[in-house]
Amino acid sequence: MEPGRERFERTIAADERIEPRDWMPDAYRATLVRQIAQHAHSEIIGMQPEGSWITRAPSLRRKAILIAKVQDEAGHGLYLYGAAETLGVDRDELLDKLHSGRHKYSSIFNYPTPTWADVGAIGWLVDGAAITNQVPLCRCSYGPYARAMVRICKEESFHQRQGYELLLTLSRGTPEQHAMAQDAVDRWWWPSLMMFGPPDDASPRSARSMAWKIKRHSNDELRQRFVDICVDQAAALGLTLPDPDLRWNEERGHWDFGAIDWDEFHAVLRGEGPCNEERLTRRRRAHDEGAWVREAAAAYADKRAGVGAAA
Ligand code: 3HC
Repeated sequence: MEPGRERFERTIAADERIEPRDWMPDAYRATLVRQIAQHAHSEIIGMQPEGSWITRAPSLRRKAILIAKVQDEAGHGLYLYGAAETLGVDRDELLDKLHSGRHKYSSIFNYPTPTWADVGAIGWLVDGAAITNQVPLCRCSYGPYARAMVRICKEESFHQRQGYELLLTLSRGTPEQHAMAQDAVDRWWWPSLMMFGPPDDASPRSARSMAWKIKRHSNDELRQRFVDICVDQAAALGLTLPDPDLRWNEERGHWDFGAIDWDEFHAVLRGEGPCNEERLTRRRRAHDEGAWVREAAAAYADKRAGVGAAA
């Protein structure tokens, strides 16, 4: 057995943290690079759907909230790229994989945001699903990822609350505003359930990720937890969830829900979602247009380093 493997397995078994300088199996490292990179990509691409509403927010207060949220998402991406770099990968390489389509980002961001209510539905449902999926990641066995998630989850909680409050305001507004909120929930509900990944029996990585305590719960377990949370919240919002099969199952102690359209999920993952091309085109353009900022920052850092060395 490799010298470090015994210590690695002992650390995982003791629910302690693996740190960047520790020995780790190549497959553990590769799984983390993939997941953390895709998570970071999701945060960066995720700025687009809501970002397009910053100039159209209905009030200064709402504009300020939305600017803060979108700015948070950029920061989440940076924390996560930083966490991925502790595994020995280069950020530019990860971004190149995103831009070339070799890396995924969360399917949820390939849907359009035609009305202001979509900003509320994203906050309530998408950030709510992210919290359900990511709070367990605060106990991930890899130290830098777990620590990044602690701060991210605190900010996601603000994201979810502002979305919930936005929807509540619309739901209690004019009939047209209520209808706009209901329409947005109808469009975002099922894609939000897909954020948790494929069913456990179709999730090739879950078992090993859970054995390594990267994942703490299975995709289906977290999806069920999210549905159970949302049913009561939807009632409080005065909105309905678009699932005629939703009903309380006393025996299971959970809400039964309808079948998810996995064909739609896989089509979006293949790049056939409503906004896949738009999102990646915009991302590539932003990266190209931002080259001068990266060059200037690097030149400044080099100058400072040079100054430091000369002093
Ligand atoms: N969108 C895109 N790809 C998805 C997906 C989704 N909703 N769900 C699963 N996949 C991909 C996986 O990445 C994997 O792809 P790969 O084989 O090319 O690497 C494949 O489908 C098989 O899925 P698995 O369940 O086997 O993969 P995982 O064990 O990695 O589980 C996951 C998928 C639950 C998404 C897990 O990767 C995870 O928990 N990631 C961290 C959280 C995350 O990335 N969330 C993104 C949400 S967006 C966000 O948080 C931003 C916030 O501001 C809202």
